[in-house]
Amino acid sequence: MMSEEKAPENLPKVAATSPNVLTLEPKKYAFCTCGLSADGTFCDASHRGTTFRPQVFEVTEVPETVALCRCKQSQNFPFCDGSHASL
Ligand code: FES
Repeated sequence: MMSEEKAPENLPKVAATSPNVLTLEPKKYAFCTCGLSADGTFCDASHRGTTFRPQVFEVTEVPETVALCRCKQSQNFPFCDGSHASL
């Protein structure tokens, strides 16, 4: 039985209608694409049982401030493209 918090197949959950603006240290990160993770930003394996997989991205600047998508509608994952404004 599927929990009500699970995203429908192929449709990510809108984790928030604003980006998560963070200053990140250089390293690789696993961006949550399903919207089910606790913070709506980074993968915590909550995608298990869905078709979603995290998107690994690397920060190379020292340090880098980024706006990461939490609405999961961006066409520029993992970054916010302003799509949340239309929700
Ligand atoms: S928890 Fe969302 S992609 Fe892993």
